[in-house]
Amino acid sequence: MGKIRPMHPRLLVSCVIAADTHIDVRHPEPRLPMIRLEKVLRDAASARPVPDAFIVAGDVTSRGSAANWEKTRAVFASSPRPAREIVLMPGNHDTWSYGGYDPAFEEYRRASSDITGKEPVAPYSAATFGGFRFLFLGSTGDGGDYPILGEEQLSWLEREIRKEKETGLPVFVFNHESLNGRHGFPETGTAHPYPGMDPADSGVGAESARLEEILREAPRVFYFSGHSHMGISGEASARQKGYASIEEDGTLTVINLPSVGCGNHSGEYNHKNCCLVLEIYEERVVMRFRNAKERRWVGLPLRDGKSFWETPLL
Ligand SMILES: [Fe+2]
Repeated sequence: MGKIRPMHPRLLVSCVIAADTHIDVRHPEPRLPMIRLEKVLRDAASARPVPDAFIVAGDVTSRGSAANWEKTRAVFASSPRPAREIVLMPGNHDTWSYGGYDPAFEEYRRASSDITGKEPVAPYSAATFGGFRFLFLGSTGDGGDYPILGEEQLSWLEREIRKEKETGLPVFVFNHESLNGRHGFPETGTAHPYPGMDPADSGVGAESARLEEILREAPRVFYFSGHSHMGISGEASARQKGYASIEEDGTLTVINLPSVGCGNHSGEYNHKNCCLVLEIYEERVVMRFRNAKERRWVGLPLRDGKSFWETPLL
């Protein structure tokens, strides 16, 4: 038990990152995902210093309906503010509705505006925390399980990444879906893998290669996704099965988050109620998974026998 405190002195930026909270009035027990989101919010709110951002990396709701967003508003309204800024990203479930993408995005736009105090004008956006650039991607249409990023967004991302190249600073990119084939996907993207799965499953799909090409232009990128509901997997999984929740590949570090609200699978630690705490220091980045219900760090070894992931920033 304990509150979120930085690992090292001279913290520059900290963020609490959650995914797949899946608020759902059609859940057999609609209160359960609401309680899980509330626990993550309360845990984040107890952090000192106050986190720069609380981010939900998509699938805030199970369907982008007015009723689901109303419940989401209620949870945020009855919980302490978790951070200076709140970022709610639209996931594939948020952009699904009975009327198609446009009414779902409109519900998201209104709710996100009410909850965060900032009106999203597009499914993608950028923010700067402590001088570091954070880029949030989102689908511009209903592509089913896959996002439709589109050329306009990818060109915007390319311009943003090129600007950051001059600073030499790492860039933090968030997208609901992983790049294709990371974290053991497609087999680990479902509790019930089957032969002949589409290699793009649980990933971005057709635009993944182009997206990765753009990300590779930056000196350093940390790329965060959710979507799969894969449980937290550490270094034992990496060694024995060849995949993990955090994977490093040259200049690219990819991080996949478990679902806060739904059951997780394929991991070493499949609990709900978990989030990731990101800390940026001048010389390093530290990431730790956290069980917000138990208010403790997840003890699973991630790297070198340690339950945190630390990367020097050269
Ligand atoms: Fe999800």
